[in-house]
Amino acid sequence: MSKKPLHFNSKAIHGGQEPDAAYGAVMPPIYQTSTYAQSTPGGHKGYEYSRSANPTRTALEKSLASIENGDYGLAFASGLSAIDAVIKLLSPGDEVISTNDLYGGSYRLFKKVFEKYGITFHFVGMTDLGKIEEKINEKTRLLWVETPTNPMMNVIDIKGASDLAKRYNLLLAVDNTFATPYLQRPLDLGADIVMHSATKYLGGHSDVVVGALVVREKELAEKLYFIQNASGAVCGPMDSFLVLRGIKTLHVRMQRHCENGEAIARYLREHPGIEKVYWPGFEDHPNHEIAKRQMSHFGGMISFIPKGSSFKDAVKIVEKLQVFTLAESLGGVESLAGHPASMTHASIPKEEREKSGVVDALIRLSVGIEDVRDLIADLEQALS
Ligand SMILES: Cc1ncc(COP(=O)(O)O)c(C=O)c1O
Repeated sequence: MSKKPLHFNSKAIHGGQEPDAAYGAVMPPIYQTSTYAQSTPGGHKGYEYSRSANPTRTALEKSLASIENGDYGLAFASGLSAIDAVIKLLSPGDEVISTNDLYGGSYRLFKKVFEKYGITFHFVGMTDLGKIEEKINEKTRLLWVETPTNPMMNVIDIKGASDLAKRYNLLLAVDNTFATPYLQRPLDLGADIVMHSATKYLGGHSDVVVGALVVREKELAEKLYFIQNASGAVCGPMDSFLVLRGIKTLHVRMQRHCENGEAIARYLREHPGIEKVYWPGFEDHPNHEIAKRQMSHFGGMISFIPKGSSFKDAVKIVEKLQVFTLAESLGGVESLAGHPASMTHASIPKEEREKSGVVDALIRLSVGIEDVRDLIADLEQALS
């Protein structure tokens, strides 16, 4: 492989990859093994035990580092276990600031698991950097940013957050699940840690649950590798292989997700039965200018509110969809629809979620890569 820096689409396929040393396999074999023979105690070929490292996972971790323009990648059993590892960098008494329309599972991990170990979490409208700065005090250690947010599609200024993090000596972590490195590369914008639910666009085929972290700094990477091995929430070789295979088509899938997403966002916006559509590509989206600056397109995630709809009406609409599948998750080749109030965000108290716009009638779409005419026809019949 040439040592010349590759463009993104080539990195998705070749980044960090070498033909397998044993037989030149182009795809890394699925090293389905827990342990490795040693000639003498400690005499091994770089692998001792698969919780610590596994060659298929290493291939994925190198690919992740490459596509995010980082130096170190870490693969986990799920997106949440990747977040869990980041929070374990902290100590009792430390404080974290995050966004008030965070993915429900991240919110639950922060509030219901880590708060009882003495870590405090603040949730603010991070689209306004001033709100972040107001909450920073001497105990603050980490800014946890998700952008675009799930499901309100709010856009947070990564470069602005990174300037704040540097000024106050904080770590900045960005959940890049929605955008993927095809659209946005947080490390280039000054983040210290980028995180993924690789279950979504990176895997891309709704067939695996995996999480990822990528960093540039060696000392930070070593702390995270220690936690990864010590806590042990690693992904298996088969799952590593599936995500690696997914990443090889990330750029072509994302291009179509973006095209279909835009067509559907514009269709919904024109629809007389729709009150509001949330998609960062609209010129009147509150942080559209920032989205344009930090993303190369606007992605395939859209939320909308049907006019005069209640919880029940929204449920009826998602039940009527036929090409869109009513399901949790996002980022696969197939289009999915969700009802955040009763599904992904049910773990957030109603009052709390409504403050950030996650009302009972909100519907979220993960626009897939089917023929967009079929997707629009499906929405048309469900909304009629
Ligand atoms: C933005 C975001 N972050 C994190 C997660 C958690 O990832 P996982 O389900 O792989 O644990 C999700 C899952 O939906 C997500 O949407």
